[in-house]
Amino acid sequence: MELKNMDKIVNVCKARGFVFPGSEIYGGFANTWDFGPVGVELKNNIKRAWWKRFVQEDANTYGVDAAILMNPTVWKASGHVDSFGDPKMDCKNCKTRHRADTLIENHSKGTVSAEAMTNEEMEKYIEEHDVRCPVCGKRDFTPIRKFNPMFTTSRGTLEAEADTVYLRPETCQGEYVNFLNVQRTARAKVPFAIAQIGKSFRNEITPGNFLFRTIEFEQMELQKFCKAEDSMNFYEDYKVRAKQFVEDLGLKDEHLRFHDHDKLAHYAKAACDIQYLFPIGWQELNGIHHRGTWDLSRHQEFSGKSMLYLDPVTNEKFLPTVIEYSIGADRLTLALLCEAYDEETLEGGDTRVVMHLHSAIAPYKVAVLPLQKNLSDKAKEVFAILSKQFMCDYDEAGSIGKRYRREDEIGTPFCVTIDFDTLEDDTVTIRDRDTMQQIRLKISELCPYIQSKISF
Ligand code: GAP
Repeated sequence: MELKNMDKIVNVCKARGFVFPGSEIYGGFANTWDFGPVGVELKNNIKRAWWKRFVQEDANTYGVDAAILMNPTVWKASGHVDSFGDPKMDCKNCKTRHRADTLIENHSKGTVSAEAMTNEEMEKYIEEHDVRCPVCGKRDFTPIRKFNPMFTTSRGTLEAEADTVYLRPETCQGEYVNFLNVQRTARAKVPFAIAQIGKSFRNEITPGNFLFRTIEFEQMELQKFCKAEDSMNFYEDYKVRAKQFVEDLGLKDEHLRFHDHDKLAHYAKAACDIQYLFPIGWQELNGIHHRGTWDLSRHQEFSGKSMLYLDPVTNEKFLPTVIEYSIGADRLTLALLCEAYDEETLEGGDTRVVMHLHSAIAPYKVAVLPLQKNLSDKAKEVFAILSKQFMCDYDEAGSIGKRYRREDEIGTPFCVTIDFDTLEDDTVTIRDRDTMQQIRLKISELCPYIQSKISF
């Protein structure tokens, strides 16, 4: 299967206002990216589609928006302070820092998973397979050491009194700590889920590949609280729903696969990723994790507050089992951009770059283009009507052909052209991005027509 070219995708993203390098005028800040006018619409639409599918359309799922800065004990309870750590190796020659598991996975082009390997096994693999530093080409690494990827900051007005606090490395802890608040106020009965979309921060050892692995990113996570005996059914159910969701947004089945984890946490019954065939090979897109009662029991232990759920039917008190579904909004945005990017050869031999984004997530649903500048008054009237319902672009600069190309590159599914007939009979042409076919419609028919094509 031919892989898309990441450089071309990055270039279109920068040139067309999807994504800019973070702090660019200061020379950038590695592995941070700013979403531009087109990119912010795309990412917001993706987040809305996720929320609609998993919260709005599911009567038993409730949303929260928890604080990023949490009581530091949360991260002791979660294991992030003392137990978790990435396997770090430094290249002695060029001093670059690497994750040993990533070195192995990249060297094997995703065919070997280092997940279940011990540090010794990873070191042995690197030696036996002559895995070299991707920066300087030497194989001269330090032994593997544990590296905590949490960013810290401090709280308090006087530095001497400052307490260390952490930028959350995942959003799900805000869902666990609010389990009983949500259950009580929503009068929710197990099984139910709590969902959240928000920023997470990780001091990644090997960030990179554009939006794939960054140090600041958004996660869309939900935790299903259920009875232990129902948990594997929910686990399987979320695997299916998670895959269906990304397929419905446009990722092709042949570019997706399930990857069951080889190594499970001691409390977990099952864990699985959905992988996508990115330009860098097969990589994790999202995770579905069976977390047992681990998280609630740890918060119960560390906070001293009971997290028990009282079943109103049986009067039984128990800690629900948790099934987690977690997907990065930025990583999904990258996957959808990769899938949508296309270069097509047109009849006259020209090529056009087109983003075949699902119309529900396309940044602009429609562009209004007056054929000539002296039609701009009428075009602005049409823009005023359409923009009440949809994100619309307006463009009167350059030839109509060039304007179509610009809209194709940012994935606008429809272009409405105002010509001299519009002044006579209130009709316009509407051009379809994918087929490039045009039909003529009355201005009054435009909104229902576009609406009928963009539902998700
Ligand atoms: N609460 C579970 C959790 O955070 P994870 O596998 O570490 O699990 C879940 O992360 C998802 O978040 C990943 O599948 C990926 O989509 C996204 N993600 C994780 N780290 C990321 C990073 N550094 N940059 C972009 N997205 C990331």
